[in-house]
Amino acid sequence: MIDFEFSEEHKILRESVRAFAESYRERIIELDKKHEVDPEILRHMGREGFLGVCIPEKYGGAGMDYVSLAILSEELERVDTSLRVPVSVHVGLNSLGLLQWATEEQKQKYLVPQAKGKKLAGYALTEPDAGSDAKNLKSTAKKDGDFYILNGSKAWISLANTADHFIIFAYTGPRELGHKAISAFIIERDWKGVSSAFIKDKLGVRAGDTGMLFFQDVEIPKENLLGEEGEGFKIAMSCLDNGRFTVAAGSVGLAKAALEASIDYAKQRIAFGKPIADLQLVQQKIANMVKGIEAAELLVLKAAWLKNKGKRNTRETALAKWYATNVASQAADDAIQIHGAYGFSADYPVERFWRNSRGARIYEGTDEIQTLIQAQYALGIRQDKPLRKTLPPWPFPEDS
Ligand code: CAA
Repeated sequence: MIDFEFSEEHKILRESVRAFAESYRERIIELDKKHEVDPEILRHMGREGFLGVCIPEKYGGAGMDYVSLAILSEELERVDTSLRVPVSVHVGLNSLGLLQWATEEQKQKYLVPQAKGKKLAGYALTEPDAGSDAKNLKSTAKKDGDFYILNGSKAWISLANTADHFIIFAYTGPRELGHKAISAFIIERDWKGVSSAFIKDKLGVRAGDTGMLFFQDVEIPKENLLGEEGEGFKIAMSCLDNGRFTVAAGSVGLAKAALEASIDYAKQRIAFGKPIADLQLVQQKIANMVKGIEAAELLVLKAAWLKNKGKRNTRETALAKWYATNVASQAADDAIQIHGAYGFSADYPVERFWRNSRGARIYEGTDEIQTLIQAQYALGIRQDKPLRKTLPPWPFPEDS
């Protein structure tokens, strides 16, 4: 049976996340204008329990489901993308990756403090020369006794300067083996040889920390290998199945914010002797936003349903991400058009929505990668293979 009703728990979560995000609205606008980040906002998110939303209680999380993760992402991005991005990387790309792939010891050491919001976590796949072509990594981790020696760099990493732990990917074997020679590791910011830098002057997500990571002869203890040697690429892709989900849900929030701003403005702005809400070409833009938002929301909820069931959702999540980010981008663009010259000014929020919406069509898999993924599934060129480890269904079993 299909159920479109949100539970009481979902409704309470939505209210509390909305109140949290609204309390930071003015601060975020100020940070966005100055291109500054405020790590205290993330620590506050941790204290609220948001950073462990869908992690089992056994590991310090709130034990909620994937619809809750979607609500959290949506409500944060309704105010600003920089509030949602930490959830994407900390929960989506890292903590759920640990829940799926980490050993019990690794979970106790890293996942528990992350789920409790005491430590912040990131994910570092992308490099200066490896974006869509994620196998083209230059980073290497050479085995040396009880350690792997990591060298290389990572680019466009969210929370690069803020997170305490990262999941990173590097070649541990010969490049000729392709992705089968890539391994995943958990590393700590404070380790010798790890450094970072901010990427400044971005088009959007200006109140968010985006940066570079540098590794120089970093000694990674062998127990920090995540999964098995050569399993890193699959781990990277499976983490993206959760990161992309939060990007999709967040985009629904951004699109809703663009719609709300457009409705408010269209009702009060008078042109040709009447509110512009009466003009059919304005109505067409509003109707298109409504259509896109509803469809994007359904795609997100379908992916959430699959996740709750513990079923593979790579295709559905990628589709939700592709569609929702485009809906948000178009909604923000149309919102500027409805606002006319005022939409071009920072006195109204829609130019910020437009700048913020653009990156989501690039990060965590570009429009083009998402297009190829869908075509390949449809044509039978791409097929999911069973994985050695999978995420537990929700409600989480006692031992997950
Ligand atoms: N889960 C688990 N395993 C997966 C998987 C998934 N979702 N997708 C693929 N795999 C497995 C495949 O089954 C295959 O396994 P075998 O070796 O057993 O055959 C293996 O991984 C290789 O997969 P493909 O052959 O499908 O790889 P491909 O080269 O055809 O396609 C791609 C890969 C889809 C193009 C991929 O490279 C991709 O998604 N690129 C975009 C990367 C991306 O989104 N980067 C953004 C990272 S975000 C970041 O780093 C910054 C930040 O802070 C957010």
